[in-house]
Amino acid sequence: MKRVVFAKIPSSEAGLVIRDLMGREMVDIHAKIGKDQDFRYVPIMPDHIGTVSDMGYEMVEGDAYTLDRRSPQERIAAKLEAYPELRDIVPTRWEFVGDIVIVKMDPRCRPYSDIIGRTYAEVLDAKTVCADVRGVSGEFRQPSMELIHGTDTESVRLENGIRYGFDVTKVMFASGNTDERMRMRQLDCTGETVVDMFAGIGYFTLPLAKFSGARRVFACEKNPESYQFLVRNVRDNMLEDVVIPILGDNRHLRGRGFADRILMGYVQTTSEFVPTALRMLRPGGIIHYHDTFYVNEYEDRIRSIFSEACGEDGYDVIGIREVKSFAPAVSHYVADIRVF
Ligand SMILES: C[S@@+](CC[C@H](N)C(=O)[O-])C[C@H]1O[C@@H](n2cnc3c(N)ncnc32)[C@H](O)[C@@H]1O
Repeated sequence: MKRVVFAKIPSSEAGLVIRDLMGREMVDIHAKIGKDQDFRYVPIMPDHIGTVSDMGYEMVEGDAYTLDRRSPQERIAAKLEAYPELRDIVPTRWEFVGDIVIVKMDPRCRPYSDIIGRTYAEVLDAKTVCADVRGVSGEFRQPSMELIHGTDTESVRLENGIRYGFDVTKVMFASGNTDERMRMRQLDCTGETVVDMFAGIGYFTLPLAKFSGARRVFACEKNPESYQFLVRNVRDNMLEDVVIPILGDNRHLRGRGFADRILMGYVQTTSEFVPTALRMLRPGGIIHYHDTFYVNEYEDRIRSIFSEACGEDGYDVIGIREVKSFAPAVSHYVADIRVF
């Protein structure tokens, strides 16, 4: 293997120094920068070794760890070459949640979970690998994940200025709802009292509470495991003054006409919860109603749900948007409804 000389740069100043050395074309870009806990090892072009040494950095010689220019998929395939039966069925797509990788795994890969998990962890530099076996299900929308490498299944997802901590094996996180989480952040809820009837770990509660100007957000969650993360996320995002987490079934929430806005971030049986939402909403308040519908009938269905609940003239559809595709010809929609 080719030998190169590395400058030992303390990690605390590495960002600035490496940018400077790069700008002066002193770094050997064909070798890889190494690191340990305290230093970055930056490969230096032979002509510049003296100059960098004069800058006061210790220089050490070592093997050039040549950059691997293959795609992760190619590296995974190369590592699994000994298992030709896996060639066409190993996952070629994955999702990162912090330093955890989630793969959708073909059931035929099951007997090889160990080697697949280890390979993905090595190639993708992940601490844990989980296989998504059957998607989410049940009242609590719980994921069906198998741990195939590592031990730690808790992670933090950073999104739009919010920290969402959760356990990937216990709680879902719908990456397809990113735009809607962003929209919650952009609403103007100055001084409002908001109820999130299906708060989960704080998917919508947290961005709304942090950025929209709401005075108070009551965040109700029935699953104790999700509730535990909701409480922790409220604290970690420093929102204790705004958000009041409530553990329990939202149908038992008390109060009449006190909420300016209600979030109904749930699908498929959402209409059953409309009477509770209407009881809590003040006249003129807004409901963000989520549900799944066939793409050719969503507007009629939304109107019929609210006409039945508040009468033909009792509400106004401010807008409807598609959140994501849900199944063939079925999408998840959110309707903004003003109730008079
Ligand atoms: C997972 S979230 C839905 C997705 C979420 N809005 C998003 O953007 O990813 C729905 C949450 O509602 C909770 N839930 C279901 N029924 C409930 C009820 N009757 N009362 C309170 N929470 C409920 C579930 O436990 C779950 O955490």
